[in-house]
Amino acid sequence: MADLEQASCSQDSLEENSQEREKSASYPEPIVSLSGICKTFGSGTTKIHVLKGVDMRLNMGQLAILKGRSGSGKTTLLNIIGGLDMPTEGDVQVGGHHFHRMGDKERTRVRKCEIGFIFQAFALHPLMSAWENVELGLRLSGVSSAQWTDRIADCLEQVGMTGRAQHRPYELSGGEQQRVAIAKAIAPRPKLLLADEPTAELDTRMSERIMGLFERLRSEERMTICMTTHDQTMLEVADHVYEMADGRLV
Ligand SMILES: Nc1ncnc2c1ncn2[C@@H]1O[C@H](COP(=O)(O)OP(=O)(O)O)[C@@H](O)[C@H]1O
Ligand SMILES: [Mg+2]
Repeated sequence: MADLEQASCSQDSLEENSQEREKSASYPEPIVSLSGICKTFGSGTTKIHVLKGVDMRLNMGQLAILKGRSGSGKTTLLNIIGGLDMPTEGDVQVGGHHFHRMGDKERTRVRKCEIGFIFQAFALHPLMSAWENVELGLRLSGVSSAQWTDRIADCLEQVGMTGRAQHRPYELSGGEQQRVAIAKAIAPRPKLLLADEPTAELDTRMSERIMGLFERLRSEERMTICMTTHDQTMLEVADHVYEMADGRLV
C-alpha cells in the first residue's frame, strides 16, 4: 500500500496536466516522440538487439497500431514508450517529459497520472472485484473520489461488464478480465493509452465494441492510443499503422 500511495498524483498535478493538455491541444506537438531507440537484452554471446534505431511520433488524438510478427519487439517498444523500461540508446519524450533525464520516482508519477496501460503483465488485483479494480486505477491516478462512482459505472458499462461488477478476477473469463483491465485503464482518462494486444482474448463482436470505444476516446477526448494487434480487421480503425521488422519500423 505504501508503494501505491507514494506515487499517487495530487489534484494539483492533475490540474497542471489539464493545463498542459490545453496547451498541447493548441500547439500540435507530438505527445510521443522517439528518436534512435535501440534496445539490447543480455550480454556477451547471448546479446540480442531487439530494437535497432526506432523513430516514431504520435500526435494528440492519434490512434496508431503497431503490428509485426511475434518476437519482433512490439511489447518492448510499448514498455519503453510507457516508461516501464529504458532504451539502451535513444531519446524518449512523452507529454513533454524526457524520460531519460528523470529519476524512477518522477517517471513513475508521469506513468500513473498521464498514461493508461492495458498490458498482460498489469494484471488485475486478485482480491478485488471488477468495481474495486477500476476504483484502484482512479485512486492511483489522483482522480477526486467524488467522481469515482460515475466513472466506474460508466467505464464498466462501456466494456459491457456492468453485470459482473462485483466479481473478482478468478470468477471471470480471460476476455472478461481483459475488459475490466480496459475499464481500469481508461477510467482516469489518460492522455496516452498504451494497449498490448487488448483484443486478443475477445470474440469478434466484443473486439469491434472495444475498437468503437477506442475510436470514441480518440475523437471525443483526444486521447492518443497506441496498440499492438495481430488482427488484420483492427487495422481499419487506425489512422497510422506501423510495422516492426528486424528491429525497425517499416
Ligand atoms: N527482459 C527480456 N530479456 C531478454 N530478452 C527479452 C526480454 N524481453 C523481451 N525479450 C526478447 O526480445 C524479443 C522481442 O520481444 P517482444 O518485445 O515481447 O516481442 P513482441 O511483443 O513483438 O512479440 C524477443 O526475442 C524476446 O525474447
Ligand atoms: Mg508482445
